[in-house]
Amino acid sequence: MRDISIGIIGAGGISRLHAQAIGTLENIRLAGFCDRSFEFAKAKAEEFSTKAYESVEAMLADESVDAVIVATPSGLHMESAIAAANAGKHVLCEKPLEINTERIDAIIEACEKNHVKLGCIFQMRVSEAMLELRRVMKSGRFGRMLLASAAMRWYRENSYYDSSNWRGTFKFDGGGALINQAVHMVDALLFINGDVESISAVSGTFTHNIEVEDNLCAVLKYCNGSFGTIEVSTCCAPGFPRRMEFSGENGTVTVVEDKISRWEFVDKIDDDDRVIEQFSGSSNENGGRSPLDISFKGHAIQIADFADAIRNDAVPMIDGREARRAIELICAIYESARSGNVVKIK
Ligand SMILES: NC(=O)c1ccc[n+]([C@@H]2O[C@H](COP(=O)([O-])OP(=O)(O)OC[C@H]3O[C@@H](n4cnc5c(N)ncnc54)[C@H](O)[C@@H]3O)[C@@H](O)[C@H]2O)c1
Repeated sequence: MRDISIGIIGAGGISRLHAQAIGTLENIRLAGFCDRSFEFAKAKAEEFSTKAYESVEAMLADESVDAVIVATPSGLHMESAIAAANAGKHVLCEKPLEINTERIDAIIEACEKNHVKLGCIFQMRVSEAMLELRRVMKSGRFGRMLLASAAMRWYRENSYYDSSNWRGTFKFDGGGALINQAVHMVDALLFINGDVESISAVSGTFTHNIEVEDNLCAVLKYCNGSFGTIEVSTCCAPGFPRRMEFSGENGTVTVVEDKISRWEFVDKIDDDDRVIEQFSGSSNENGGRSPLDISFKGHAIQIADFADAIRNDAVPMIDGREARRAIELICAIYESARSGNVVKIK
């Protein structure tokens, strides 16, 4: 199997998880780090015994690099992703792919024009529990869908927003709790229950000294006719596990973090015991208080898949168009919260 060499652009908090994930994968090599600050690149390179590139341009000029992971602030993904695509590098980008659909479309266009792969990290949807839920949803066992909802009652200190100057800004974060922290749940709702037809929302900044929302609630009508709510907050001290709930006329499934806490169908079958045994258990209880208290397992799954997509000229499990769906919905939610109107999407 051909080795794939991957460089990381942006040597901040999340870059460590990517480097750890790559360290567990065969036939994938960490080429090194680059950053706007060479000092940051050097520090991470030393930690992982790899190379520090003097600049983003130097990494992109290195012919031995096949692909890059973009781990810069969200509203700066486009610049690095397009530069990488123009240099012929495949692009795996951190979530959210970008902060609006115009900037995402520019990335997709650049990657298509240069015939390079584009993928986006959304580790929540690649958890085994979520994939099991997707399988049962596709089988039609829920019957007519009624409700599909997500609740993130998290807590973040002000110091989190103060820790980097891009956090909590419209320009570089694109918004607040919804687009930064809850984007994983928005992606998972769309993955499981399909597209959304229309939404209405309210939002506000309640307890943090930031310009974007830290508290938001949206009501959704899905294209399959079902309804749902998205409640997100980073103000709910002391912080609680994230929860998603899906109800059809024949059953309800509740997912808390990456565990299934309820799996109940009116037509019980033997396989239900396996699902409950395999996917239930205690979930991450940190309630958003520790931003990088994340397993790198989901990142490793997606990086391995991305390398396979490069080797086999296949589509990555979450490509640019797939990653765009969550941002299209999030931008519509923000528009509704701003205008007070119901916003139609599809
Ligand atoms: N998948 C997840 O669960 C997860 C978790 C945390 C962060 N993220 C995402 O990862 C991205 C980075 O977040 P973070 O927490 O690591 O931020 P961070 O502020 O810790 O790190 C960002 C790094 O990018 C560097 N940088 C800024 N502009 C640059 C440029 N133009 N070129 C090169 N380097 C540049 C900064 O110097 C910094 O080292 C964000 O998009 C965020 O949403 C994802």
